[in-house]
Amino acid sequence: MTIKVCVAGATGWVGKPLCLAVAGAEDLSLVGAVSRTYAGRSLREAVGGEAPDVLVSGSVGEALETPTDVLVDYTKADAVKGNVLAAIAKGVHVVIGSSGLTDEDFVEIDRAASEKNVGVIAAGNFAVTAVLLQRFACEAAKYLSQWEVVDYASDAKQDAPSGTARELAFRLSEVGRPEPTVPVEETLGERAARGLTLNGTQVHSLRLPGYVIAVEAIFGARDERLTLRHDAGSGAEPYIQGTLLAIRKVTSRVGLVRGLDKIME
Ligand SMILES: NC(=O)c1ccc[n+]([C@@H]2O[C@H](COP(=O)([O-])OP(=O)(O)OC[C@H]3O[C@@H](n4cnc5c(N)ncnc54)[C@H](OP(=O)(O)O)[C@@H]3O)[C@@H](O)[C@H]2O)c1
Repeated sequence: MTIKVCVAGATGWVGKPLCLAVAGAEDLSLVGAVSRTYAGRSLREAVGGEAPDVLVSGSVGEALETPTDVLVDYTKADAVKGNVLAAIAKGVHVVIGSSGLTDEDFVEIDRAASEKNVGVIAAGNFAVTAVLLQRFACEAAKYLSQWEVVDYASDAKQDAPSGTARELAFRLSEVGRPEPTVPVEETLGERAARGLTLNGTQVHSLRLPGYVIAVEAIFGARDERLTLRHDAGSGAEPYIQGTLLAIRKVTSRVGLVRGLDKIME
């Protein structure tokens, strides 16, 4: 039996290749697509090429009137939470690619999903190389007590910090909290200059033309420094395989799973 998938953000940078990948997979079928701009038209008309002839809906609520097993969200920070909760309320499993959700949002989503007996898999970054950075950083945090995170993205990215940086800070907090020599709250001058404290980690977000998306975890020790860095290229291909894996795994889960590495092994 194939898994019936609806993609919200189907015409976007990630959504478009994802729809093609879902449509091309033998065990998955694309039954729905959401985009406000192309509502009422065919996905093939909207994105062209080999896209399947699926009707594009203007909202997740409308799209999920068609029987669906999994909703995948690659929209925007201001839309993702509403879409996810709408899908859960209908008993549909969810894969979250969009960034912008806070730890508190994830607690609420986990509770709603558990109540409805559905699974949710969220990853700040579905690329395997970003997962490796996260894993290596958690390993480093076992041995080094001071670190900070720098999040780089294009000038067009509206939300900050990135989903990648948020998840990295969350995962590092499961290992420990950094112990800065001068506590951030004791900063002389402007406290804001030390960045956002997220789960104990200082996160600094740059938004400039010329960047796609990158993240650095910088560990400092006496007279030495370790820098772990992930750079995304200009194509969305690295995120597709991880997202397909999440679609295949989410139907057997209940509640929230946060992080691609949690489902990789
Ligand atoms: N987890 C990961 O690995 C990963 C990787 C890359 C990107 N991301 C995140 O995924 C999200 C999408 O990125 P992208 O680069 O593909 O974006 P994009 O190219 O701007 O595409 C966004 C898509 O969502 C729709 N959309 C935009 N605003 C919306 C809203 N308010 N309500 C409903 N639909 C909306 C757009 O269509 P309409 O405007 O026609 O509705 C479009 O189809 C972002 O949050 C990004 O940070 C995550």
